[in-house]
Amino acid sequence: MILRFLRYASTNCERRRISIVGSGPSGFYTAYRLLTKCEVPLHVTMWEKLPVPFGLSRYGVAPDHPEVKNCEDTFTACAEEFSRPGQKHLFEFIGGVTVGEQVTLSELIDKQDAVVLSYGCTGDKKLGIPGENDTKGVFSSREFVNWYNGHPEYANDPRFVNFDWSRVKNVGIIGNGNVALDLTRALISNQIGELWDGTDISPIALKCLRQAPVEHIRLIARRDFDHSKFTNKELRELWELERYGIYGKIDPQYFREDAYDLRSIKDRAFRRRVEMCSEYLKPFDQRTKKNYKKFAPQPSAQSPPKTWELDYLKTPVRINSDGSGYITSLTLCRNSITEDNKICQLKDQQVTYNLDLLITSLGYAAKPLAEFQKLGIQFEKGRLANAAGRVLDSHGATFPGLYASGWIRTGSAGVIASTMMGAFEVADSILQDLSSLPAKQTGRIDFSHLRHTTWPDWRSINRKELQQGEQEGKTRVKFLSSEEMLSFHKQSPA
Ligand SMILES: Cc1cc2nc3c(=O)[nH]c(=O)nc-3n(C[C@H](O)[C@H](O)[C@H](O)COP(=O)(O)OP(=O)(O)OC[C@H]3O[C@@H](n4cnc5c(N)ncnc54)[C@H](O)[C@@H]3O)c2cc1C
Ligand SMILES: NC(=O)c1ccc[n+]([C@@H]2O[C@H](COP(=O)([O-])OP(=O)(O)OC[C@H]3O[C@@H](n4cnc5c(N)ncnc54)[C@H](OP(=O)(O)O)[C@@H]3O)[C@@H](O)[C@H]2O)c1
Repeated sequence: MILRFLRYASTNCERRRISIVGSGPSGFYTAYRLLTKCEVPLHVTMWEKLPVPFGLSRYGVAPDHPEVKNCEDTFTACAEEFSRPGQKHLFEFIGGVTVGEQVTLSELIDKQDAVVLSYGCTGDKKLGIPGENDTKGVFSSREFVNWYNGHPEYANDPRFVNFDWSRVKNVGIIGNGNVALDLTRALISNQIGELWDGTDISPIALKCLRQAPVEHIRLIARRDFDHSKFTNKELRELWELERYGIYGKIDPQYFREDAYDLRSIKDRAFRRRVEMCSEYLKPFDQRTKKNYKKFAPQPSAQSPPKTWELDYLKTPVRINSDGSGYITSLTLCRNSITEDNKICQLKDQQVTYNLDLLITSLGYAAKPLAEFQKLGIQFEKGRLANAAGRVLDSHGATFPGLYASGWIRTGSAGVIASTMMGAFEVADSILQDLSSLPAKQTGRIDFSHLRHTTWPDWRSINRKELQQGEQEGKTRVKFLSSEEMLSFHKQSPA
């Protein structure tokens, strides 16, 4: 062991240095691949703007889907193994430091042999309609998800905490991707203790949401049923809420079983979706497939029962509010859709839905760092321009030593498994290039003056959150502010 340490200590000066910006799934899977495959010794530094790691695994994935967060076990094992001294490779986590603000990208590029941008999508896609930015009770999915997951920048946001949740009966959600389905589940089923009490949902959010007497949630898509964005597993979870007296609806003008011939549908997932909706829309005793009769629907605890509805072929036009600035309704126009999936807005055919809460769930937006322009880095179509993860400059040539991984590379599409595959491809590009990238000898990046967390700090924060969770019968109880996290680790060494 000592010999091994000495051997690698002596090669320390030959270590290649790689910085990774962002500690979400893409940052960690890139690090994992590099650290497990690289033949020359590496020093991988991961910079994270929050004091804690894991990005959307911690602050995106729905609290009632804890199994999805199992990827964090792989990330933890990787960090633990390579944080130990005497390893061929070194891994260092620096939390609470924003690249582009407290440490510049230029400095990383100057001092590191390679830099991987994996900072995800930090903004919102927008509808661009009147009322979207200044109406009380209108939120983006990113804001809402961050809030209910206890993200330190949102957990105590007054726009949520001071909102009058007791007025929320009718909810509109624009978009029908899986995030819209996560939000529908959270809003419609939060009073069912067995679904939420044991989760790590922010207790502040859960308390607010439980004040909302939600009756109806409408998921509004601009396209038709056939072009729905959700996946079957997530849709099924919504239908299965009938066992708690919560029911789903689709207007027959948008979906009718007899409009489809199941045997002629080639796409298996789509065939299953049609079958699922056909079956669940029937009364329980008329369903023909056992698969959809696992749990008998229960009578609703309230009258009218809570319902969610898939709504189609409408584009929002205007958000309407009352004298106090609260949302009252949403005006939309109807759409038709061409065979090649183009939307035609029928501007003279408008409908208005009375709403007490509106969430725009259009996907997250990637944002360029301010330095990109000065450095001549190409950012277009909502992502970093790249070839196999190699970032391109404004002339379309590769920017030596700069890489993009995850949602900043692809835009906000893809699950953790596809993010992992993409991250592996990027790491492989780096491994191919490394020997031809110049070794920079300009020294260490000085962050000692910045308040920050290290991997051992995260270890103690994590332990505290899990202990608190155990005491309260929850998976974990998160710290809800950066200040709490930054000061906690100082008192409790790992
Ligand atoms: C609401 C939601 C739920 C999801 N649920 C699932 C699911 O159930 N199953 C599934 O497979 N996939 C799910 N996904 C998809 C999955 O989360 C993504 O595929 C994955 O997180 C993308 O990883 P990433 O590392 O590119 O981005 P992120 O996870 O966003 O990580 C980016 C990290 O960079 C940090 N960062 C940002 N700016 C800076 C900066 N300037 N300096 C330093 N650090 C910075 C951020 O704080 C963050 O930690 C979900 C996505 C969302 C939005
Ligand atoms: N359980 C899970 O596995 C899980 C959970 C959450 C998220 N995720 C993944 O995370 C990724 C992001 O999910 P997401 O739901 O945020 O995004 P998404 O799947 O891209 O869905 C976005 C929705 O917004 C609509 N939309 C976009 N712009 C619009 C506009 N201007 N006007 C009206 N509608 C608009 C889209 O409609 P069009 O289709 O018409 O563009 C679509 O319905 C996806 O890959 C998703 O699968 C997975």
